[in-house]
Amino acid sequence: MKNNLLKGKKGIIFGALDPNSIAWKVAQRCYEEGAVFTLTNAPVALRLGAIKELAASCKAEVIPADATSVADLENLFTKSMEVLGGKLDFVLHSIGMSPNVRKSRPYTDLDYEYFHKTLDISALSLHKTLQTAMKLDAMNEWSSVVALTYIASQRVFPDYGDMADAKSVLESITRGFGYQYGKLKKVRINTISQSPTKTTAGTGVKGFDAFYNYADLLSPLGNASAESCADYTVMMFSDYTRMVTMQNLFHDGGFSFTGMSKEVMEKFGS
Ligand SMILES: NC(=O)c1ccc[n+]([C@@H]2O[C@H](COP(=O)([O-])OP(=O)(O)OC[C@H]3O[C@@H](n4cnc5c(N)ncnc54)[C@H](O)[C@@H]3O)[C@@H](O)[C@H]2O)c1
Repeated sequence: MKNNLLKGKKGIIFGALDPNSIAWKVAQRCYEEGAVFTLTNAPVALRLGAIKELAASCKAEVIPADATSVADLENLFTKSMEVLGGKLDFVLHSIGMSPNVRKSRPYTDLDYEYFHKTLDISALSLHKTLQTAMKLDAMNEWSSVVALTYIASQRVFPDYGDMADAKSVLESITRGFGYQYGKLKKVRINTISQSPTKTTAGTGVKGFDAFYNYADLLSPLGNASAESCADYTVMMFSDYTRMVTMQNLFHDGGFSFTGMSKEVMEKFGS
């Protein structure tokens, strides 16, 4: 599918860790659609090395940045504008990590140092990214920022732990900053609420297989893949969605609005 939807557009893609990452697929699709961009991730993730392969195939430069560090973000935006030759048209925020979830701390026995880290990495990093971009005047008019989220921000999935709180904050920042940046410069900001997806972050959540399979059975279209999430993200970066902002957009095969499916009924007896 190559339609030059992003021809001439410049951007930054956060969060491609390995070929399973949603950001990895987004980078590949953006490249196919004619965009130029830089890739970024936390220095510790870059040491794993896989991103070099992606960078070579997309002709993209890799600029390390810990998304919780404003200094790193300033460097990232400044260098990206230098490398790409001007202001940016899109940013993908595809970042999530909870030390509490990683260490299987139940929601009623959280480590609060970890909780701060979860919020900083998974939610405040979006605010820091946007504030840095605004201060450096790094975004073109009508540019588009997409952050990835999960429905646990709105409905309880017990093992998602403090990531659920982080996703609620992330979605709220999308609205709060979306208003400000829309007024100032017509920059639009949205979250895409994606189906469970088999990635490093996804499968790190306890019981992932159970809610992956449950969501697949409940959703009329089945779970949305990382590849289809990349297609949707490309559309959100394109000029075809210029008036969409401050939204939480479900990309989940219909899961969010389905109460019961025939398949789930059959599994539990009728
Ligand atoms: N996989 C799922 O089931 C699923 C569902 C809905 C939403 N999401 C969201 O999609 C996004 C991408 O996750 P993924 O599933 O592709 O997994 P992933 O593990 O491939 O990506 C998470 C990324 O966050 C990066 N990251 C962590 N700490 C960072 C920091 N301090 N600075 C910069 N980057 C940092 C990691 O290095 C990694 O590249 C996350 O926001 C995640 O919550 C995932």
